[in-house]
Amino acid sequence: MRLPKRFDARAFETVTEPMKRAFERDGVLVLDGMISDADCDALKAHTLELVSNLDATEHHTTFSTTDPSHQNDSYFLSSGHKTRFFFEDGAFNEAGELAVPMERALNKLGHAMHDLDPVFDRFSRQPRLERLAKGLGSKIPLLLQSMYIFKPPLIGGEVTCHQDATFLWTEPQSVIGFWFALEDATIHNGCLWGLPGEDKGSAPKKRFRRISETETAFETYDESPFPEAKRIPLEASKGTLIAFNGLFPHLSSANRSNTSRHAYTLHIIDGAAYYPDDNWLQRPAEMPLRGFS
Ligand code: FE2
Repeated sequence: MRLPKRFDARAFETVTEPMKRAFERDGVLVLDGMISDADCDALKAHTLELVSNLDATEHHTTFSTTDPSHQNDSYFLSSGHKTRFFFEDGAFNEAGELAVPMERALNKLGHAMHDLDPVFDRFSRQPRLERLAKGLGSKIPLLLQSMYIFKPPLIGGEVTCHQDATFLWTEPQSVIGFWFALEDATIHNGCLWGLPGEDKGSAPKKRFRRISETETAFETYDESPFPEAKRIPLEASKGTLIAFNGLFPHLSSANRSNTSRHAYTLHIIDGAAYYPDDNWLQRPAEMPLRGFS
């Protein structure tokens, strides 16, 4: 078991050599205090305001990595340039009515708030995040995908072990995930877990791709399971940013605690890499990907 080195990032200016070495060694970089409490609280409050008037009967798509029914759902497949709302499996009762309050029913919002919503845009395009992306090797960083993840108390679902390159494929591989803890994430409320160093010498085990307008499928290149016995918890206090590359295996367990675990994620790809047109996430020509400015 190898614990990744943690860095105090409250005064982050640029990626230092020790940070670079840690990221290269582990595939993950943990930056404590990167985001202020005020910025975390503002994004959370804005999101809760956004969802407060949501009509659940109009947005009845659930998102679960253990039940893949959303994967051929047009609401999901056309969400790459939208703000869309995905619910937890346990959010509805048998009559199809919301069984819990809205902020405790949602799994996530995705996948283009960073381009559509001024508050998400400001949070996502902080100059220090551009310096971080470039410092971690992205030559022409483009903001591909944003997700606000609720992981609500009691019903927050697990996310099975995966590599982000499976879903956000480029050639060569270039995706970097920024995972921001907007609330304290612990082993009790479903923090991120990862397999440091297991990104090395490996290619993505699978690729998730479109096979038609309405259908997707996984292509499997390596049937061997991830060595999950080596997984370690990446507990993160509010304001921590965890950055990882597209081959870094990671997961999170269900939240059966009484506290929520809100997080925001931003996925960045390198504009110098090729982005296939059979990736699930596509943008219309009138809404191209943008960088940090
Ligand atoms: Fe992921």
